[in-house]
Amino acid sequence: MCDLTGKHGLIVGVANKRSISWAIAQAAAASGARLAVTYPSERLEENVRELAAKLENPLVLPCDVTSDQQIADLAATLDREFGGLDFAVHGAGFAPADALHNPFVETSRESFRIALDVSAYSLVGLTRAVAPLMEKRGGGSILTLTFIGSGRVYPNYNVMGVAKAALESAVRYLASDLGPKNIRVNAISAGAIKTLAASGIAGFSSILQVYRDRAPLRRSVETSEVADAAMFLLSPASRAVTGEILMVDAGMHAIGL
Ligand SMILES: NC(=O)c1ccc[n+]([C@@H]2O[C@H](COP(=O)([O-])OP(=O)(O)OC[C@H]3O[C@@H](n4cnc5c(N)ncnc54)[C@H](O)[C@@H]3O)[C@@H](O)[C@H]2O)c1
Repeated sequence: MCDLTGKHGLIVGVANKRSISWAIAQAAAASGARLAVTYPSERLEENVRELAAKLENPLVLPCDVTSDQQIADLAATLDREFGGLDFAVHGAGFAPADALHNPFVETSRESFRIALDVSAYSLVGLTRAVAPLMEKRGGGSILTLTFIGSGRVYPNYNVMGVAKAALESAVRYLASDLGPKNIRVNAISAGAIKTLAASGIAGFSSILQVYRDRAPLRRSVETSEVADAAMFLLSPASRAVTGEILMVDAGMHAIGL
């Protein structure tokens, strides 16, 4: 049911081998998909090219999600090379460092704007660009990544929590707009994982310890576990699921204290 043979997918958000998006790319490739992976800047291009070399016949393309032009160019290239698109993974997230250290009340207008632009609006822009390619295939699946800090306070998660709340709301509005075209939009709310993005959050290790102490499974999650859940949401196995935030967090969301 989670077979992706013959499907074409886009993966945004690979920075290095610890990236959740990289685990999803590997799982999707193992399930038979041909992939395009993107890099946001020249600084990360070499990393992404090195990783992508492990995939079969990948496209490696630039895409800074804050640029409408780069998103449009990406969609045009995918259309030319793949002739449509079956799924897209949006794993881009960013907030300026000061906003992840200082008290939330001190968040500047500019840090707020950047965090919401990269981490939330980009799903809207990217979805709008790839939707016509998915229509060509009779539908598609779009997946983004969120964190429980959207609805509850996690120390130093701050403006990222606000951005994730906007992202989750965007998932529901996009799912409503695009459902009639058989394009589904969902999110995985992943448990805490030590990645590049996570290392920007002050005191992140103590969040991991709380998972070990209190989550029902007494641990957090691995990127491969998020990727396995992603295979469900990207494949026809989830064909009746849209507008959903799937908790893949070792059960942490179920705990009060
Ligand atoms: N690590 C966790 O604990 C955790 C938990 C839940 C959700 N998430 C979310 O998962 C997603 C992936 O994060 P990760 O933990 O794998 O870390 P990561 O640092 O590997 O991935 C974040 C990605 O965002 C990309 N990015 C940043 N600015 C961009 C831009 N302007 N244009 C395009 N891409 C840009 C980075 O290049 C990077 O590839 C993020 O949305 C993150 O918030 C992470």
